[in-house]
Amino acid sequence: MNQVFAGRRLAVGVCGGIAAYKVLTVVSRLVQAGALVDVLMTPAAHRFVGALSFQALTHRPVLDDPWATDAEGQIAHIAVAEAADLLLIAPATANTLAKLAHGLADDAVTLTALAARAPLLLAPAMDGGMFGHPATQGNLATLLARGCLVVGPEEGRLASGLTGHGRMAEPESILQAAAGLLQRRADLAGLRIVVTAGGTREPIDPVRYIGNRSSGKMGYAIAEAAAARGAAVTLISAPSALPVPSAVTYIAVETVQELRTALHRGLAHTDVLIQAAAVSDYRVAAVAAEKMKRKGEDLVLRLVENPDLIAEIGAMPERPILVGFAAETGNDLAQAREKLRRKNLDLNVLNDVTAPGSGFGTDTNQVTILGRSGAPEVLPLQSKRAVADALLDRVLALIPESRRP
Ligand code: PMT
Repeated sequence: MNQVFAGRRLAVGVCGGIAAYKVLTVVSRLVQAGALVDVLMTPAAHRFVGALSFQALTHRPVLDDPWATDAEGQIAHIAVAEAADLLLIAPATANTLAKLAHGLADDAVTLTALAARAPLLLAPAMDGGMFGHPATQGNLATLLARGCLVVGPEEGRLASGLTGHGRMAEPESILQAAAGLLQRRADLAGLRIVVTAGGTREPIDPVRYIGNRSSGKMGYAIAEAAAARGAAVTLISAPSALPVPSAVTYIAVETVQELRTALHRGLAHTDVLIQAAAVSDYRVAAVAAEKMKRKGEDLVLRLVENPDLIAEIGAMPERPILVGFAAETGNDLAQAREKLRRKNLDLNVLNDVTAPGSGFGTDTNQVTILGRSGAPEVLPLQSKRAVADALLDRVLALIPESRRP
């Protein structure tokens, strides 16, 4: 990772949060890796960490005065913004996220961010309630749609002593995200991608349901990878034990009907739909209002067919790019091809759920990607995140040049 930073110029904006002390480690690592680092501080950041510490690490003055000029008489924040290969803001407080989302610029960090054309990496850190607040989530969605990348926050102990979702990502994760960004620009920025994940549940009575073995790992990996590459991601999730990824709009559903409603609500604003959810083909015809009792005899449940959600969308005249998954018990290429054609998909991902290390609940997957033309692409067994990135590369290739960032 270190060689990525050598000779690069990074601007690091520090805001007023207790996690500011961790940014000393980030800056130190960047300098050791050969980067030239300009540190910018908001007035509130000074309450948590001293400018002298950053100066000692970078051997450069800290920019905290919006009115400052540099040695050449240039407006300092404009000069830093123009020179930066990457702008990192860490910790990115709720207040700074709100200012960034609305284009406000009243301190060295937000002025530089407004002037910069370099990729912007945000490492939010705040109280869990502040992070979950619709205002903060809305601001993050705005920033993501604009192509910013977000790393964290993570679940953990917060400054308040409470445990919650708001703890700044660890320096190592921030450095990795920064390196990834320098290597790969936000190539999906401006695209609105809906990903479905998890296994739907069809109720039998108030306590029982018909479900399947999907953990959500494949869909969540796709949502995370797409968000990391700058897409505005909506994750529609059937029940899953996984933590909600940051930087995505999250919609929880349970039944196929709820999934259908959520899909159709956002369809007009969707560029790409990736349907990784394991969707029940049947539901119980008459769901019992109360818990069903044993009767000392066999029980027959009548199941009725659910609509095929992706096929419904595939039949629409105006539809997003459609990516389906074909979960098969065997490497059944013919079946995957037939589903691609019948459901009018652009890509279909054949997933043999019986192959070792593949399918339900695993952290790895081995898939074959089928397009409308060309030979199927057999991918190696790899992490679900790597599968996600390979799939997104194929999706990007389907986007017309004029729509790409
Ligand atoms: O969640 P994990 O544990 O990580 O497991 C990942 C996975 C195995 C669930 C995933 O990789 C996968 O294969 N998902 C698709 C499961 C599935 O429903 O496959 P299918 O062959 O039955 O359906 C084909 C496609 O049609 C799928 O995109 C499916 O979402 C969609 N479909 C199916 C039925 C239906 N009524 N409506 C649909 O939209």
